[in-house]
Amino acid sequence: MNDIFDNKLWLAPLAGYTDTVYRKICKSMGADVVMSEMISADALIHNNPKIKMLAEFDKEERPIGLQIFGNDAHKISEGIKILMEYQPNFVDINMGCPVKKIVKNNSGSALLKDKNKIKEIVKLSYKTINDKLPLTVKIRAGWNSDKDLFEIVKIIQSEGASAIIFHPRTRDEMFSGKSNWNLITKVKENSTIPIIGNGDITTPEDAKIMFAQTKCDSIMVGRGAIGNPWIFRQIKNYLQNNTYQTILPPEKIEMIFFHFKRLKEKIGSKKALQIIRKFIAPYTKGIRGASVLRQKCNQANDEKQFIKYLLSFQTEADFCQSGSASGMTPQADKSIQKK
Ligand SMILES: Cc1cc2nc3c(=O)[nH]c(=O)nc-3n(C[C@H](O)[C@H](O)[C@H](O)COP(=O)(O)O)c2cc1C
Repeated sequence: MNDIFDNKLWLAPLAGYTDTVYRKICKSMGADVVMSEMISADALIHNNPKIKMLAEFDKEERPIGLQIFGNDAHKISEGIKILMEYQPNFVDINMGCPVKKIVKNNSGSALLKDKNKIKEIVKLSYKTINDKLPLTVKIRAGWNSDKDLFEIVKIIQSEGASAIIFHPRTRDEMFSGKSNWNLITKVKENSTIPIIGNGDITTPEDAKIMFAQTKCDSIMVGRGAIGNPWIFRQIKNYLQNNTYQTILPPEKIEMIFFHFKRLKEKIGSKKALQIIRKFIAPYTKGIRGASVLRQKCNQANDEKQFIKYLLSFQTEADFCQSGSASGMTPQADKSIQKK
């Protein structure tokens, strides 16, 4: 049952980004494990069809975890029963979300203020799952300090969680500064269950350092995978061979077409356009002249205009100026040139 935790590369849950389409793209690029975005226990219980759609996934996405959030152990437990009908590979409880809308209801990272509540939630959730699936908990380092972190980790593991996903920032820190990877090292040293390290992995080099420095069991990539699904393949190559290929602009533009097509098949052109717009800036980061494309795509009223702008960018852009000509890492490029 715990084979999931042998998998090294996890795609983080990213509300508004990691839908079934993007999860499959990341899987095709080497992500081992994916997760749904957070799903409200209250909304599940109220049978909200829009929210229930968040729990749907395709078999190619496996292993996949469905993530729940809430503030009440009984409601979370009822919600988990509903999520289990979708037969995910594991269920995760969100105890890390820092967003105002969530914490004002005492959900997400607000739970980190209340150790008794954490205990109650994990205990009842574990009982509800009844050993049918692994239960994981995704946490931050604390609410406004990490003083209770190790106690919280202890509670979560002793109440039956199979693993902890850990983003080492407090809620107060939101996304500022750098996440404190030393805390991942300490949590790993002080726990008996797998630890999935998360926070600020944006390059294959970061991934290697996180494994080496923290000795965590697996790593999870979030923002670094938005518009860069190739990061998983690059990490795998870098961990195995110490090298990886950079992705050239034409491939990135092709991916935008592909991503849009898949979204359109799933949710229709209008909604697909809304979603793909959020990805244009991340996909085209570093490409010369892409700022104009971003502006135009944001103004595109319909699919036809959007495709037109993308096609004209594809034909007119001076891609030779952006990125490495060979597609190798800059280091590899240099070493080849020297020879
Ligand atoms: C836009 C966005 C949406 C997120 N949605 C979720 C979510 O639904 N559930 C969750 O546990 N974390 C969510 N997170 C947090 C990420 O999963 C991750 O823990 C955080 O971004 C740190 O990892 P990173 O530095 O690799 O991005 C979200 C983060 C962002 C930026």
